[in-house]
Amino acid sequence: MVDLSTRIGSLLLDNPIMPGSGTFAEGLDDVIDLNRLGAFVTKSATPGYRSGNPIPRIAETPSGMLNSIGLPSKGIDDFLGRIVPFYSRFSPPLIASVSADTIAEFESMATAVSVAGVAASEANISCPTLEEDGRAFAMHPDVTEQVIGRMVAATDRPIWAKLTPNTGDIAEVARAAEAAGAEAVVVANTILGIAIDTETRRPLLGSVTGGLSGPAIRPIILRMVYQCARSVSIPIIASGGIGTAKDVVEFMLAGATAAQIGTASFIHPTAMISAIDGLVAYCERHGIAHIAEIIGAMEHTESDPVLLTPIGS
Ligand SMILES: Cc1cc2nc3c(=O)[nH]c(=O)nc-3n(C[C@H](O)[C@H](O)[C@H](O)COP(=O)(O)O)c2cc1C
Repeated sequence: MVDLSTRIGSLLLDNPIMPGSGTFAEGLDDVIDLNRLGAFVTKSATPGYRSGNPIPRIAETPSGMLNSIGLPSKGIDDFLGRIVPFYSRFSPPLIASVSADTIAEFESMATAVSVAGVAASEANISCPTLEEDGRAFAMHPDVTEQVIGRMVAATDRPIWAKLTPNTGDIAEVARAAEAAGAEAVVVANTILGIAIDTETRRPLLGSVTGGLSGPAIRPIILRMVYQCARSVSIPIIASGGIGTAKDVVEFMLAGATAAQIGTASFIHPTAMISAIDGLVAYCERHGIAHIAEIIGAMEHTESDPVLLTPIGS
């Protein structure tokens, strides 16, 4: 028997597989056995109603997709009244993803979702702050430390900080989240991109820019997970281009403790279940009793150079 359990701070998950926020919804209950997942992560909830970005909001790109969904949300009351009760009949812990425009709003969202049935809160700080320069909270280590610190103080639930890859030094931001008391960092959200229709000369997305996800970003996010794993001691939950058990193993070898599957579920709605089954098969094939053994277990000799800044080709 292979033990797939993995620990994220105070939470012990049956296995390391969970959905990426916004790529999963209640309807998947008709397709897969939700009780098999390591955890649930909800679409980011915001304090009030938000309609989201102008259409089109999705564009396919090579090995990935761009989205500019723009966090449409029915607000916190709908989240507490409809989403939380839906998940309470399943066994995996529910992680409430929250998003907001200001630090004070993030703080009150941390309090608001601290209800029975919610095990932890994932702070989607990859969204723009209205208080600073309009760039994402998690582009700034100091703002990250402030917002996570305020959330941690506002609740007894664990706070996971979901970082943005659209920053100069993600490891520095991860350290700021750890210093503020985050129990884990999620590495990472989508990478900013643009696609243009060359016939019409118009952007393919209604808001011009969007977030790139899917296999196209996997090596970049893998490098960021590796960097963060060398910089913090809290668990890292990987998110970016993960679709199979092999991908999950790759991220765990680089230092991740768990993995979120996002865009892959749009192509294969059963991807998360296949990944869990594939992890068991991998462990059996390699004589691994407990999946946690492979966390950070990438083998390289001391003399292998680890280049974390490009030196040209
Ligand atoms: C359509 C779509 C909606 C998303 N919505 C959210 C969201 O509400 N909150 C959030 O933190 N991330 C959101 N994400 C980001 C994903 O959770 C994930 O971090 C990202 O897509 C990278 O993983 P992937 O390549 O496996 O999709 C969204 C991604 C997509 C594609």
